[in-house]
Amino acid sequence: MMQRIGVLTSGGDAPGMNTAIRAVVLTASQYGLEVIGFRHGFNGIFQRDFQVLQSTDVRQISHLGGTILKSARCKALPQPGGAELAAQILHELGIDALLVIGGDGSFRGCMALSHHYRGQIVGLPGTIDNDLDGTDLTIGFATALQTALDAIDKIRDTADAFERTFLIEVMGRHTGYLALSAGIAGSAEQIICPEYGETVDVADIAADIRSYQKQHGACSYIIVLAETMYPAGAAALAQELSEQSGTECRAVVLGHLQRGGSPVGSDRILATKLGAYAVEQLMAGHAHLMMAGEQAGQAVLFPLSLTGAQHKKADPFLLAWQDRVLQQHKAT
Ligand code: F6P
Repeated sequence: MMQRIGVLTSGGDAPGMNTAIRAVVLTASQYGLEVIGFRHGFNGIFQRDFQVLQSTDVRQISHLGGTILKSARCKALPQPGGAELAAQILHELGIDALLVIGGDGSFRGCMALSHHYRGQIVGLPGTIDNDLDGTDLTIGFATALQTALDAIDKIRDTADAFERTFLIEVMGRHTGYLALSAGIAGSAEQIICPEYGETVDVADIAADIRSYQKQHGACSYIIVLAETMYPAGAAALAQELSEQSGTECRAVVLGHLQRGGSPVGSDRILATKLGAYAVEQLMAGHAHLMMAGEQAGQAVLFPLSLTGAQHKKADPFLLAWQDRVLQQHKAT
């Protein structure tokens, strides 16, 4: 009989994690479950750093960015004996199930733990990267997209005023989902992300800038760059582009700015739905080693082990459309 469940937030924090914690706690209280919140991700298990979470603790937290439980990338869990020790502590604390709100790395931690832990483990997709299979969107992605877009729109103003080229680097560790989405929504002239190839052809991009400006006259040119694409960094790429295109190119790295801020409405709704669904499915006995996700508007369970098995596919229609727009400028 389920009596006590644990919850933690792990890996890169994402707006909406607090909303998910609230939904977990409020739903658990409907079943009379006690909720233990581990602090600083899986580290909270090793350090026995936790707090009991009651309804009153999650009042007025939905709109807050970050996570009230704090987050971390845990070094102890992947160490030899790490998962075994974490499981032993969870058993000692009488934790019947563990809910982990995080991304790919956190779910790999869940799988390691599952070899030793006798309780149930459930994942909730919390990452700005939207790089998990099994859910259309992850908690935090919509807010990060809006944040990136606000920045791109502002940079467009100054880029227009000076008729400059800007290279705007956005986050996204394994996929270009955020780059592609922010680039399309921000009407970027060019998007450099892994979905279009793993390498960056500087001469080709410089030629694109020149041909675009030949066609439109002196004007702004925005390139959105996914963070993994140019290991030397956005500043170095901007420098090279300036030299090769003969136009002024500046770099802006949006970085951790994209992780912060109050979650937008759709993130709060997704987090509430998935938090509540995860607890309900746990009680129904269906959720062990599953991630609670959403597909086509329906809450679904998806095997945790498969969430990172392949690179999440970006929208092929939008990818192809953006490419056709670019090719059109190349041709003219
Ligand atoms: O996974 C979320 C994320 O923000 C990625 O987009 C980024 O690559 C990474 O985390 C940054 O991690 P850290 O905050 O540890 O530097």
